[in-house]
This record gives sequence, C-alpha cells and structure tokens, in this order.
Amino acid sequence: MNAPASPIGIFDSGYGGLTVMKKILEALPRYDYIYLGDNARAPYGPRSFETVHAYTLQAVTWLFDRGCRLVILACNTASAKALRTIQQKDLPRLDPGRRVLGVIRPVTELAGTFTETQHIGVLGTVGTVESQSYAIEIGKQFPGITVTQEACPMWVPLVECGECESSGADYFVHKHISNLLAKDPKIDALILGCTHYPLLIRKIMQFLPPGIRVVAQGEIVSESLAGYLSRHPEIETHVSSSGIRRYFTTDSPELFNKQSRIFMGIPIEAERVRLP
Ligand code: DGL
Repeated sequence: MNAPASPIGIFDSGYGGLTVMKKILEALPRYDYIYLGDNARAPYGPRSFETVHAYTLQAVTWLFDRGCRLVILACNTASAKALRTIQQKDLPRLDPGRRVLGVIRPVTELAGTFTETQHIGVLGTVGTVESQSYAIEIGKQFPGITVTQEACPMWVPLVECGECESSGADYFVHKHISNLLAKDPKIDALILGCTHYPLLIRKIMQFLPPGIRVVAQGEIVSESLAGYLSRHPEIETHVSSSGIRRYFTTDSPELFNKQSRIFMGIPIEAERVRLP
C-alpha cells in the first residue's frame, strides 16, 4: 500500500518566504503546499544560532505533523543557522525518510555563472552574514571567487513597514550598497541573500552602478526544487497534487492577510497556529 500523500511545507520566520513561495507556485502549481510563518517570533535575523535552530526545528516538526515529507526553509537566516544541524542531527532521529532543504545552496551552486570578475557581493541579515554561509558554500565550490558581504539590518523593517519607496529607503539602500562596493569595487554580481530584498529591487537598481548583475533567489530556488523532485521520485511520488494552498501564522491572521499582499500580490486567508 502507498504511503499517504502530503503537501510541500514552506517555512519562513514571517512573510518573506512568500516571495520564494510565489516563484515556486509559478513553476510548480500542481502540488499542494502549506506555508508557515513564525511571525510572532520574527525577525530571526538578529537571533543566535541556538534560538534560530530551536524555533526552526519546532516549525519543521509542526509541518511534519501535518504530513509534509519535504520542507523548504524559505528563510535565509534559518537556512544559514539551522539547516545543517536539522539535516545532520535532527532528521535521522525524527524521520530519515523526510527531507528539509534550504535556499542558500541552490544559489551558491550557480555562483560561477554570475561573475566574470570573480568578485561577488552578498547582502543579508546580520544572522546570515555572521554565519558566513554564502562565503563558505561558494568557497567550497568556487575557491577562486572572492565573496564580500554586507548586513542590512534596516531593510527588513523598511519592507514590512511599507517604506520601500520612501526617503528612508533611499538612505539605507544607498548606505549599504556604497559600504559593500567600498569594501570590494570589483564586484560584478550581487546576491540578494534575504527573502525581503527583492521588494527593494527598484531602489537597489537606482543606487547600483551599471554592469552589476543582481541575483534574486526565488526563481533559482523554484528551478532547483523542480530538478530535485525529478531526481527524487521516492519523495515526489508522495507529494499530493490537488493545487491546495494553506497558510499558517503564529501571530494574527488578520495582520498576515493584510501584509502578505505586499509579498504575494494576491489575497490570502491565513490560519493561526501555536508553536510550543
Ligand atoms: N526571512 C528572513 C531571511 O531571509 C528575513 C526576516 C527575518 O530576519 O526574520 O533572512
């Protein structure tokens, strides 16, 4: 007898993973999805390794309990600070037949195709930058590439407060792009290593000198997921395909429904959940 079908779980600290989910839905609309945003405890960006791991593990366990056999950590901070421990230590204990994937590896695997100068810039939260995950992953696969990072702690609040087009955004976007390019003027590719940053793309382009390629991760992650599912029929055959989407938040569903429009552009009806 076949095992019961299950949706793909998509987890983020809050709303940001919806930018990744949007691209996944465009590329792979036939599958069922459950989105979980831990809005009550967001942002994860400034939190410690221990805390991000503990919160992310609770979320993954909750998604497993809802039948997900495959969970995508659509949050850079969770991918940077919790994914490896979950894959190596927690999954063998919880259920070795399930999978948890992140959003950093699919991007770093392609790093060699982004740059001609062999100099890449990465923008992310404080947590993602401190973890060095992008630099480590790119270094493993492309040792000749120099990676320079810049943490942009004000960019997530700017997006969440609807300030993407304000003079405040001018100030903080200009500041961090100039800081990054002052550290390495040879950068010719810029990775947006945070779920929220694609929403600042207009401002980023405004302050970026010509000739620098901007890499957002949504499409790369969705293509990588499509490839993963075609290479892993033992996972793909269990994923249910009724086109169902459910959204859960650990904070107010009303607020989630309102804010999620910024990230998805479509109305969403979220349900409330409590993580331990
Ligand atoms: N989703 C997070 C990320 O991509 C940004 C928001 C947060 O700090 O929780 O890193």
